[in-house]
Amino acid sequence: MGVAMITGLSHVSLAVPNLEAAAKRLKEVYGLHIGAVMVNEEQGVRMAYVELANARIELMEPSRPGSPVAKFLERNPGGGIHHFCLGVDDMAASAAGIAAKGARVLGDGKQINVHGERIAFVHPKDFLGALVELEEKAEGGKRKAKRKS
Ligand code: CO
Repeated sequence: MGVAMITGLSHVSLAVPNLEAAAKRLKEVYGLHIGAVMVNEEQGVRMAYVELANARIELMEPSRPGSPVAKFLERNPGGGIHHFCLGVDDMAASAAGIAAKGARVLGDGKQINVHGERIAFVHPKDFLGALVELEEKAEGGKRKAKRKS
């Protein structure tokens, strides 16, 4: 197994208590616009993205109590950085390569995000204290359909 091919920063993810309030704040203070709100029932989140030139800001609000993001907000009631996400060119090879070097990869690498991309997570203790999401990019790292806000 080779090493993971990290292709770039995909997004930084913030857990927020209220998505609409967060969107309003980002717009009023920073002139940032969020795209459409999507729901990932499996992960128990409502989410939306701010598209930047070279990466995105992901906003996550719990869609049900007891979800991982709900638990994060119990520990950080005001919200905060939940994870950041790196793109990889080949999820299966990258996850196997990282795991072979002793890092805990959470998930089977077949988990799919709201964009239909394969994702996995690396345990925070195995990435300098930060929860890292890995995301497999289709077609050279660009999404085909960009969502307009
Ligand atoms: Co993410």
